[in-house]
This record gives sequence, C-alpha cells and structure tokens, in this order.
Amino acid sequence: MKADQEQSAKPILKGVNLVLKTGEIHAIMGPNGTGKSTLAETIMGNPTYQVTQGDILLNGESILSMPVDERARKGLFLAMQYPAEIRGVTNAEFLRTAINARRPDDERLSITDFLQELNKNLDLLEMDQAMIERYLNEGFSGGEKKRNEILQLLMIKPEFAILDEIDSGLDIDALKIVARGVNSMRGSGFGSLIITHYQRLLDYIVPDTVHIMIDGKISQTGGPELAAQLEKEGYKDLETAAK
Ligand SMILES: Nc1ncnc2c1ncn2[C@@H]1O[C@H](COP(=O)(O)OP(=O)(O)OP(=O)(O)O)[C@@H](O)[C@H]1O
Ligand SMILES: [Mg+2]
Repeated sequence: MKADQEQSAKPILKGVNLVLKTGEIHAIMGPNGTGKSTLAETIMGNPTYQVTQGDILLNGESILSMPVDERARKGLFLAMQYPAEIRGVTNAEFLRTAINARRPDDERLSITDFLQELNKNLDLLEMDQAMIERYLNEGFSGGEKKRNEILQLLMIKPEFAILDEIDSGLDIDALKIVARGVNSMRGSGFGSLIITHYQRLLDYIVPDTVHIMIDGKISQTGGPELAAQLEKEGYKDLETAAK
C-alpha cells in the first residue's frame, strides 16, 4: 500500500505489505516520522491520507472505500497516539454508543449488562469510577488517556486493534496494567498491531512478530528478538542499509 498526505501530496507510505491474522500480535517499531501513525490512520480510514496504490483488505474484503465508522463496524479499532478530547460527551455515553453502533438493533446491550462489563473492566484496569462520568478525555492526564483507550478496547471488543504508542507517558505500574488489559484480549478471535518505540512494552505484551519501519517501508521482520536487538543497537545501521 502507498499513501500520501492529501493536501501537500507528500508521499509518506512507500509500499507497505503486511498480513495480520487474528490470533496474532504484531509490533511495528521505527524512528520518529517514519510513517507508523500514518499507517495506523490510513488503515482506520482517516480521510487526511490518500491511498494512491494498493488496497487494504479485512477478512478478504476491501475496506478502502469505507468511512471510519463502517470500518469500525467491521471490527477495526484504533487507539490513537494522541487521543482526542470530546467535550459534552461523557466517557460512558461514548462507550455505549460505540458498542451499540456495532450491534444490530435487537442485540443492543442493556444498561445492566453494560454496567456489569464496565465495572469488570474498570477493576481490571484499576481505573476510578469517576472517570466514566467525565467528558471523554477532557482534562485526562496523558497516562489516563492511554488507560482509557484500553478501556475502550476492552468494552468494544474489536476483532482487530491498532494500538499506537499506548505506552507513551505511562508510569511503570500503569504500563503493566495496560499490558494486562491487552493480554486479556488475546485469543483466536483477536489480532493486534502494536506501534511502540520501546522494547519494555513488548516484555509485557509479547508479540508474535516484530516489523521495523524505515522511511515509509517495512525494512525488516522478525521475532521478539528484533526488538531486543534494536534496544541495544538503535536504528543507525538499519537506516544506512535502507538508503
Ligand atoms: N497531515 C499531515 N500533513 C503533513 N505531513 C504529515 C501529515 N501527517 C503525517 N505527516 C508527515 O509524515 C511523516 C510520518 O508521520 P507519522 O506521524 O506517521 O510518523 P510516526 O512514524 O508515527 O512518528 P512518531 O514515532 O514520531 O510518532 C512525518 O514526516 C510527518 O510530518
Ligand atoms: Mg506516531
């Protein structure tokens, strides 16, 4: 797949070919500005980016012409690097709307079931009840926003989740809690693409596959040992080799 930034027509992704299966967790690492978030946003359908070549298939079906909400209904989820603040919509309202938007009318989640599931997940993520009556992300600390993205993940239960730097700004306890949340989703019906800069997250969420993205392309793919190698050696050699 290739993708440009729409207004400036700047090519950002220069040929990305990835196959992600449910049941698997893949990690993408790479230097700043290399196109990781662009890849995440493009898969999710952010109209800022234009796909100029290639396709994006979900369960064999092209999702390229689908708007974001339709992609979400098909089972895609994106935890954004910089989660948006939405004034006037409480966290609880947002969650219920997002869950029900993916269900047929006769399978709407009852308030009781919703609250039961919510309380279970708040406990798992060690989140304060008060967070759910606050406006979505408004005034949340950086770490609270990240934890809240994982609450959304656990409540919405997508088939496939892209998690963009869910570890950034987290203290060490919060990192373990967020990892616990993601690991609780693991299973044959769930797949994930985790974008991170640090091996530390991958010590807690052990990926099946690690990809390195350099300058809009996947330059190397391997197992978790690739992340350990990066931690030691950085990107210098890889960047030189990619030129
Ligand atoms: N809307 C945009 N307009 C102009 N340039 C953009 C836009 N979005 C992304 N870019 C550029 O594309 C490149 C890739 O950005 P992207 O956010 O995907 O990087 P990243 O790999 O996620 O980096 P980081 O590790 O810092 O989060 C950067 O040079 C960025 O400035
Ligand atoms: Mg990014």
